[in-house]
Amino acid sequence: MSSCMEHPDIGLSPSPLLFTPYSLRGLELRNRLMLAPMNQHAAIDGFADDGLLVHLGKYALGGFGVVATGATAVTPSGKIGPGDLGIWSDEHIPGFKRLTTYIRSHGAAAALQICHSGRKGSIQRPWQGFGPIDESDLVRNEQPWPLWSPTGEALGPGHVAPQALDEAGIQRIIEDFAAAAVRADRAGFDILEIHGGHGYLIASFLSPVINTRSDHYGGDLSGRMRFALEVVKSVRAHWPERKPLFFRASCVDGHPAGWKLEDTVVLATQLKEHGVDLIDCSSGGLRISTSIENTQRKPGYQVAYADEVRRRTGIPTSAVGLILDGRQAERVLQEGAADLVAIGRQALYDPYFAHHAAQDLGVDAGFDAWDISAGWWLAKRRPGLAALGLPGSGESRISNI
Ligand SMILES: Cc1cc2nc3c(=O)[nH]c(=O)nc-3n(C[C@H](O)[C@H](O)[C@H](O)COP(=O)(O)O)c2cc1C
Repeated sequence: MSSCMEHPDIGLSPSPLLFTPYSLRGLELRNRLMLAPMNQHAAIDGFADDGLLVHLGKYALGGFGVVATGATAVTPSGKIGPGDLGIWSDEHIPGFKRLTTYIRSHGAAAALQICHSGRKGSIQRPWQGFGPIDESDLVRNEQPWPLWSPTGEALGPGHVAPQALDEAGIQRIIEDFAAAAVRADRAGFDILEIHGGHGYLIASFLSPVINTRSDHYGGDLSGRMRFALEVVKSVRAHWPERKPLFFRASCVDGHPAGWKLEDTVVLATQLKEHGVDLIDCSSGGLRISTSIENTQRKPGYQVAYADEVRRRTGIPTSAVGLILDGRQAERVLQEGAADLVAIGRQALYDPYFAHHAAQDLGVDAGFDAWDISAGWWLAKRRPGLAALGLPGSGESRISNI
């Protein structure tokens, strides 16, 4: 898989794939752009509030096909940090319902990412240190909480030592995931994504570096995959047949003795058989940050994972990681490396990424995809700007290629 930077001029189609609708089960997406799941660390007791509505609402207004929440805990001890979203009680449903109603009313599909942090919980917000919650967090009344993991090994010095899950504990968490799926449906989400990457609970069962259990949830690859597959099976049974189920994977965890792309191919094949519709291909995260140590993050640095998984298993994938503009995203699709393109930080920089990509790729010169209260004005302004040769006129730059 080549990065766009190496081939800046390879052919862009006059009808870009990026803005071609895409169907999965009973859902049709208006385009192939997904807002990557990003934790805002701003929830109180897990609730979806006005702040989240405004935050995620921007991306629905901004033209994304899918708007995903960040990691949402299926049980309080499964939070990563104190500001995580949660869906462990029925009381969480109304806030999410309001959010999905808004997102869907602006033409995007609403996705909920469900997560259990495992041993990577009880962690400070990134800008508050990214370390274990300690006395300094008491000013916000934030205190450490008990964690669960395949083994009792802590994430690192000072971190809460997790309790090793026994069979009953494993079953309880599988039930928490299933209950979260039921609530997500009641809250109106169109897509559910299980967070199986970045070193959180599911990923930690998969990784031979963390999962050193000797029972049938550990050992060889099939033992280490058992928990992930049982979660998926249970979630699929509780999530409507017509609604797509995504799985976010760390395709490689970056440790020399760790989880490899070859393992992801085996897992993806089985996930597909268990009713997963798309693998959201990320990487890393065994420790604190998701970056793989000693790996330089270049544009499209994870696209090759989506490509390999897609080609070798036939399961749809999404590519994510330093995808910076519409042309780069379009090339990922044209090269057949992925079915969806997820945008993270570049969407924080530009919540209207999708609309701007459409302008750049020349598919929305009339600003029809914009909310009419803005699009009507921009379309009227266009001829004047064009006459002056100024940007913002909605003229396609593709014709120059
Ligand atoms: C602020 C922030 C929060 C994130 N939270 C999550 C999360 O909750 N779940 C997840 O799977 N990935 C999370 N990620 C990773 C992103 O989904 C994405 O994979 C990563 O940022 C790389 O894509 P980008 O280069 O487009 O930002 C987060 C990233 C950022 C920057």
